[in-house]
Amino acid sequence: MQKKYQIEKIMKSAQEYINANKERFLQELFELLRIPSVSAKPENKPDMLIAAEFIKNELLKVGADHAEIKETKGHPLVYGEKFVSKDLPTVLVYGHYDVQPAEPLDLWKTPAFEPTIVDGKIYARGADDDKGQLFMHIKAFEAMSKTNSLKCNLKFMIEGEEEIGSPSLGDFCKENKELLKCDIILVSDTGMIAQDIPSITVGLRGLSYMEVELTGPNRDLHSGLYGGAVANPINMLCKMIASLTNEKNQITIPGFYDDVLILSAEERAEMAKAPFSLENYKNEIEINDVVGEEGFSTNERTGIRPALDVNGIWGGYTGDGAKTILPSKAYAKISMRLVPHQKSQKIADLFEKHFNSIAPKGTTVNVKYLHGGEGFVSPTDTKAYLAAAKAYELTFGKKPIPTRSGGSIPIIALFEEVLGAKSILMGFGLESDAIHSPNENYPLFNFYKGIETIPYFYQFYTEK
Ligand code: BES
Ligand code: MN
Ligand code: MN
Repeated sequence: MQKKYQIEKIMKSAQEYINANKERFLQELFELLRIPSVSAKPENKPDMLIAAEFIKNELLKVGADHAEIKETKGHPLVYGEKFVSKDLPTVLVYGHYDVQPAEPLDLWKTPAFEPTIVDGKIYARGADDDKGQLFMHIKAFEAMSKTNSLKCNLKFMIEGEEEIGSPSLGDFCKENKELLKCDIILVSDTGMIAQDIPSITVGLRGLSYMEVELTGPNRDLHSGLYGGAVANPINMLCKMIASLTNEKNQITIPGFYDDVLILSAEERAEMAKAPFSLENYKNEIEINDVVGEEGFSTNERTGIRPALDVNGIWGGYTGDGAKTILPSKAYAKISMRLVPHQKSQKIADLFEKHFNSIAPKGTTVNVKYLHGGEGFVSPTDTKAYLAAAKAYELTFGKKPIPTRSGGSIPIIALFEEVLGAKSILMGFGLESDAIHSPNENYPLFNFYKGIETIPYFYQFYTEK
């Protein structure tokens, strides 16, 4: 009781500060959302620096002792810190200021880089993933710092290459182990079940992302003169891809499932307790049925089972009207989502070997491994998990449910390996936020709830 009273007193002023500054927080987030920091596009390179500068200045403004832009071989990252006492634990906040391309632009109801509030939601590319979510941390830090209620040391590392596979961050971590030393890494870059059903992400899938090229004849041929007599690489690529899964929707690459961790019946029963409505799930994305690996539920299919998906396929003639050719080349981008204990490099090698072995006569295959990383599982009995759970319980009035997400943040596994620190994933996004899609959005409710919840995490994590 005594302890509870103390927490309430310390936190009261931070929460009052948040309440009094809500509108300004939103306007500041809008400034960040207006910067088109698309890491995948060379033409947005200058915007990456503008976004990084904006975050650096925010950190300095809200109370960091020090903040700077760190150059990498790719896009810059922002590092900042606030030192309180060497006797207190250090929390490293990770997030990413880069966003996915906004295309197809014509499907946006409001411009992607002009944040607009509609029905209590912020519409903009990055509104959730991850500008909206990382900004909650900056504002939670501001509230604590301005009311003298921060009871731990804070470090911020906000990168600009997450959406392209964090190609520079691994090296940066290896070269800056001392700088990044911390007790726990705190990340808001995931989601929760619903606005009234808080959850903590305790699993992420790994990833192997491949690009394949299939070559037939040395040039596009007249499809009348050659059609039927020469292997058509697009026809062949379709067959090859179709053969990668069987009638049970299992992946047919030899050895693919060898390292997959099988959950016990108890663990699966525990997972099945999380509230889930298949009807809502289908309605939300307007499909008439779900399809996936035989013998597993929808949540299991994304949470504990791997998947193989074609992300894009192209080749031949796709312009207006009809052009009669038998194309020389066909391409596809294929991703495999992995689960513990699959290893991304090993899976990429198995894929390459298999794909080469199934190349039909008259074609040659070229396989490239674009990027990848390992999955992640978080225990639920650590100080950090329990602190996060208590924080959610206080602000949502309900205990959060541990859930395994199908998404990937490959750098999380690398943090553990290189920095020896675990991560806690306090995500506040919703499935309906449409991340990576047109009309990405983030409800104001989630944005403010996140800002309110984060300070309690620090409080509970650092209390003795
Ligand atoms: N924030 C997402 C990942 C995510 C979203 C995890 C929701 C769980 C719930 C992240 O920005 C992302 O999009 N990751 C990529 C992987 C990356 C290597 C391109 C992904 O999952 O496709
Ligand atoms: Mn993200
Ligand atoms: Mn993303």
